[in-house]
Amino acid sequence: MLVNGKKYRTIWINKQNKEVVCVINQNMLPFRFEIAEIKSSQGMFDAIKNMTVRGAPLIGAAGAYGVYLSLIEAKRKYKRPDDVDKYVLEMCELINSARPTAVNLKWAVTKTLEKVLKQKTVSAKINSALNTASRICNDDVRACRKIGTYGREIIRKLSAKKQNGLVNILTHCNAGWLAVIDYGTALAPVYLAKEAGIKVHVWVEETRPRNQGARLTAWELEQNGIDYSLITDNAGGYVMQKGMVDMVIVGSDRTTLTGDVCNKIGTYKTALAAFDNRIPFYAAVPLSSFDLNMKDGVKEIPVEERSPDEIKFAEYYEGGKIHKGLITFESVKIRNFGFDITPSKYVTGIITESGIIKPNQKSIRNLFK
Ligand code: MRU
Repeated sequence: MLVNGKKYRTIWINKQNKEVVCVINQNMLPFRFEIAEIKSSQGMFDAIKNMTVRGAPLIGAAGAYGVYLSLIEAKRKYKRPDDVDKYVLEMCELINSARPTAVNLKWAVTKTLEKVLKQKTVSAKINSALNTASRICNDDVRACRKIGTYGREIIRKLSAKKQNGLVNILTHCNAGWLAVIDYGTALAPVYLAKEAGIKVHVWVEETRPRNQGARLTAWELEQNGIDYSLITDNAGGYVMQKGMVDMVIVGSDRTTLTGDVCNKIGTYKTALAAFDNRIPFYAAVPLSSFDLNMKDGVKEIPVEERSPDEIKFAEYYEGGKIHKGLITFESVKIRNFGFDITPSKYVTGIITESGIIKPNQKSIRNLFK
């Protein structure tokens, strides 16, 4: 997608030095557009953990490139392929531990590792990791584009029913192109609708405490010429009651076999408000974000609990720097849950790269046949 009129993906290999992985530093957005260079598997672990890169599919791709970087390190340290494998396995375990909720991380790391372990020589292992990581990225771009084309048709139908043709879409967190490699999951239908000349406006919930809505979604929509309004998380229900929302689309970090959708904290309350107001609530989910081993999302999905500082302090930009300011009292007791689960009964449909399906076991199993 576009940044200052130039096309970018969120992750790529440095053209001058194949041993360096470049990413957009999302911790600096929207204040500054900075590229971070990641040169080690530990560096990739840190980037995932501190949310330099974030969003389920992007975390997966980053993890795969982390496996590649660990092989480059292992080549310098060890001669025997067995020792190389041992080191890479250790680093994979570390990378997988960076963020527990998005299933894509383990999925992509495991996929890359399995291919690597089949290769006999160290250089074949390195090539295999690099090819797998880049294939994961290209597949993700294709999947998101398809999600976009299926989702666009829902928007088109809603538009045809409206007198002014304008479709108001509410979203939570960032499930746009910054959360994936390109296009986005929840926002791909919006970008493709705009491309097709359908009138769209996006309600962007700010997404406390990391403000992915305010800092990332609003920014990427602005950069790509989509009309939007930023609202507080608490305002979502109100705009729905006022008839100002035609549909909700969110992304997902893990969707169970039964269609329970885990996404950024606050999504569940948004779904409840949509249900109460009879507004269709869609999750846009690539196949890489399904976890077929889980059935009951609330009971089984590991929900990340993050640092209390994310709630205790607010970040602001001044004098060319990001600062943190205390917004409650110093000794306050905090629990910072990163995600919640929307039970399938509140989900109208799941938009995947293989079509739009009902959130139930039968439809989800069919997807993987
Ligand atoms: O903590 P984050 O910013 O990685 O959480 C991201 C989300 O919850 C996204 O909505 C999710 O990954 C959707 S997938 C594009």
